[in-house]
Amino acid sequence: MGGIKETQDVEEQNVTEPRRSFLQRWPAALMSFGLTAGYGMFATLIGRFLFPSRRRLSGPQYVNDLRSFRLGASMTYVSPAGEKVVLTRVSETGGSEDFIALSSVCPHLGCQVHWEGQNDRFFCPCHNGAFDSEGSPIAGPPKDANQSLPRYELHVENGLLFIDAATEALVDASQNTSHRT
Ligand code: FES
Repeated sequence: MGGIKETQDVEEQNVTEPRRSFLQRWPAALMSFGLTAGYGMFATLIGRFLFPSRRRLSGPQYVNDLRSFRLGASMTYVSPAGEKVVLTRVSETGGSEDFIALSSVCPHLGCQVHWEGQNDRFFCPCHNGAFDSEGSPIAGPPKDANQSLPRYELHVENGLLFIDAATEALVDASQNTSHRT
């Protein structure tokens, strides 16, 4: 009789043991999941604090009115974030396609390029890099690496020319200079 009772106790123990151990482990599993999630969130916040993302904010900015921007003329525009852009008028249809807006920063090592009207090209004096009037590389290291001058989007509204350029920082408006040729 005692042997049967012992066998029943062992069987009950075998049935309830996995259930009990599962119930015992469940809070531990929840706790470790919570800790992992908590540490993950903490690490993410620390990462964002130490390495903030540099999203480029941009928007349309007034450049000039079309009537005072003659065919063949060029001007330099400095965005609120300090980006220098060279704008040139290449036609007179009255739309944004009349203009080309190119960064004046050489994509090779960041020197300033300037327009050479007599050679019909942008020239970078640092390593004799050159670009055509549309910003495509034609000589020097930029040509070897096929690096063009970055181009900016333009819009015309009510006879006024606007550019899409970075707006991340405020810069004194007096830094905008015009050079008519
Ligand atoms: S920085 Fe312009 S060619 Fe090198």
